[in-house]
Parts: sequence; structure tokens; C-alpha cells
Amino acid sequence: KDSSPWFCLLLSTCPSLSTFYFLFVVFVVSTIFHCHQRLALVPAPWAYSAQVVVVPRHHPQEGMFTINAVGRLGNQMGQYATLYALAKLNGRPAYVPAQMHSTLAPIFRITLPVLPSATAHSVPWRNYHLNDWMEEQYRHIPGRYVRLTGYPCSWTFYHHLRQEILQEFSLHEHVREEAQKFLQALQATQAWRMTFVGVHVRRGDYVRVMPQVWKGVLADRGYLQQALDWFRARYRSPVFVVTSDDMAWCRQSIDSSRGDVVFAGNGLQGSPAKDFALLTQCNHSIITVGTFGIWAAYLTGGDTVYLANFTLPNSPFHMVFKPQAAFLPEWVGIAADLRQAQQSLGSVRESSREWTREAARSYVAVALE
Ligand SMILES: *[C@@H]1O[C@H](CO)[C@@H](O)[C@H](O)[C@H]1NC(C)=O
Ligand SMILES: *[C@@H]1O[C@H](CO)[C@@H](O)[C@H](O)[C@H]1NC(C)=O
Repeated sequence: KDSSPWFCLLLSTCPSLSTFYFLFVVFVVSTIFHCHQRLALVPAPWAYSAQVVVVPRHHPQEGMFTINAVGRLGNQMGQYATLYALAKLNGRPAYVPAQMHSTLAPIFRITLPVLPSATAHSVPWRNYHLNDWMEEQYRHIPGRYVRLTGYPCSWTFYHHLRQEILQEFSLHEHVREEAQKFLQALQATQAWRMTFVGVHVRRGDYVRVMPQVWKGVLADRGYLQQALDWFRARYRSPVFVVTSDDMAWCRQSIDSSRGDVVFAGNGLQGSPAKDFALLTQCNHSIITVGTFGIWAAYLTGGDTVYLANFTLPNSPFHMVFKPQAAFLPEWVGIAADLRQAQQSLGSVRESSREWTREAARSYVAVALE
């Protein structure tokens, strides 16, 4: 990176040139070298409309904030929104890691500039750990170059900027259109106006993690039945659009005999964009566990029914998760049936004792989504 080797090389090979000419050549060569190196390191998705900014060699005097990019879509949305809000509160410019840009930019019209990893490596960051809820001291985060860390996904960080957050996470037109086409095709089958309720059923790795690690339960048939009935009692012709990472379980467990349930998800965890877009284009939400559902409901903005109190009182989950900070006050909680967690508790009691705060925290990266 240092340009002095180039200078020495030129000095020894062309000793007769004038100093001015030397400097000019050195300048041109090192500029080409640096530009080439930087352009090469900017990650692939140039095609997306998010702005990619190559940060100048000298880091901005006003400092900068960034955040770790860990987990999948829901986690990274939480990190993005938290960075956006806290950088603003602290009066610093925000830059997102290249990896986060690659996750979010294919779906959303995000606007924060990207920090190429080569530049990020040269910044003298000061790490700053965040809990999953806003705290007073986050208004005055010390340090000029701050890298926020943790798995924040709480409206308490950014709800005062809701309009801006909704704008940041507005869908690319082609993503929105595809979801709209699906809903319009459903609407075309009925003369009356449908009310779409997006249902997100998160299972996958949680089937194991929730009882074993968090001493909790997942959404069961009973919860889903109650949640669907909540909407049936309030809207004239609701249509439930179900997405999940386990569609087979949903088909077996959700009663669709009334003809108002549509199984829409593709069941793949690897391509969450379509499911996510479909949920946000619905009018209301039913969610189970995880940040993916929480974000879909937050962006949809209609009525939201969520699974409440899904872990036992002594669960390590309470160290990393505050329900009041995760679910908006106006959302409607339906308490989980914890009997299954109590039954399986005996078998995992010994291993659970080992769980420290730090271990629990690091598990959130893979689990809390
Ligand atoms: C409900 O969602 C559909 C599909 O996005 C939309 O066309 C319709 O206008 C929405 N209804 C209301 C009342 O917002
Ligand atoms: C969850 O538990 C808390 C504390 O016991 C209680 O106040 C709250 O009403 C419960 N939520 C639901 C939806 O049952």
C-alpha cells in the first residue's frame, strides 16, 4: 500500500530524470495502483441501487460509525437500522460493511454508503457492545471511529425515525411487483375486497434450539388457530398467506378447511427475499419467533399478533431479549403453551446450567432469527 517502494525503484532505474518528472510519475503510478486495488475490492452487487462509496485514504475527520454484520436477513436488518439511528443520534456518518450491503441491497433500497473491507481493516475502530434495547448511554458513545457490536433488533433504537427506516427498507420495484402479482391473482378469484394477513412460521434450527438452549417452545397448532381466529373475528374476509421455513409442518398443522388459508412460502431458508416481500405486501401480520417475522410485521404496519411468553421464567433467553423492546406496545400477544418446555426441561437441566451470559449471547447470532 505504501508508495515509497515505487519511488525507490524509479529512482534507481532512471537517475537522470528531473525531480519534478519523478514526482509526477510516482504520483500517476501510485494513483493507478491504489485505484485499481480499491475498485477490485468493492463487492459484487453494483447492480443494486444502494450507493457504494470508496472512502478516501484519510478517514473523515468527523469520525464514523459502523456495525458488525452477523446472522441472516432479520438480524442484519436490525443491525442496519440500529446503526442508522445511533450514528444519527451521535452526529457521526454511518457506513455499512460490504457483507451487510450484499445481504440487504438485493431486496431493499438502502442508502447508507458501503465501507469496503480493505478500508475497514485500516480504521482504528473502537468496539462498542450493544444490548438488544436502547439505553441512555447510547446517546453519547465515546470514540471517533466506532464499530457497534451485538445483535440489536429493537424498535427502541429507531422507532422515532420510523418513516426513514420504512424508506430504507422499501422494496426494489421488481421484488414488490412479484409479491403484488401473487396477491392480485388471489384477489381476482373473489368479487369482494380481501384482507391479506401474512403468516410467518419460523421453525428450522429453532425446533432444536428453542427447547434445548432457550427452555422454550415454538408456535404450535393451538397458537396458530387462536391467531387466525383473532383476525376472523375482526375482518370480514381475511385471507391467510402462510410462509415458513417448514411448509410441510404448516400444511399439516394449520387448519385450512375454511378455504381462507394459502400456503405460499417456498420453504427455503436460503432465499428469504420472496417470502419477506410477500409478508410485507399483506395488510396485517401473524408472527411466531425470530427477527424475520418481527421485521416483516414492523414494515407491514397493520395489526400484528405475536407469540408471547414462549420461554420458561428461568430461561437464559431473558438475558438477551426483552419482550417490551422487541414487540410494539400495540401488537397483540397470545401466550404460548409452555407445557412442552416444562416436560423437556428435566432432560436438559444439567447441560443448561453451563450456559453463561456470553455463550447465550453468541448463540443469538445463529438462533435469533
Ligand atoms: C391490502 O393489501 C393489498 C395488497 O398489497 C392492497 O392492494 C390493499 O390496498 C390493502 N388494503 C388496505 C385496506 O390497505
Ligand atoms: C406474559 O407474561 C407477563 C409476565 O408474567 C404478563 O404480564 C403478560 O400479560 C404475559 N403476556 C401474555 C400475552 O399472556
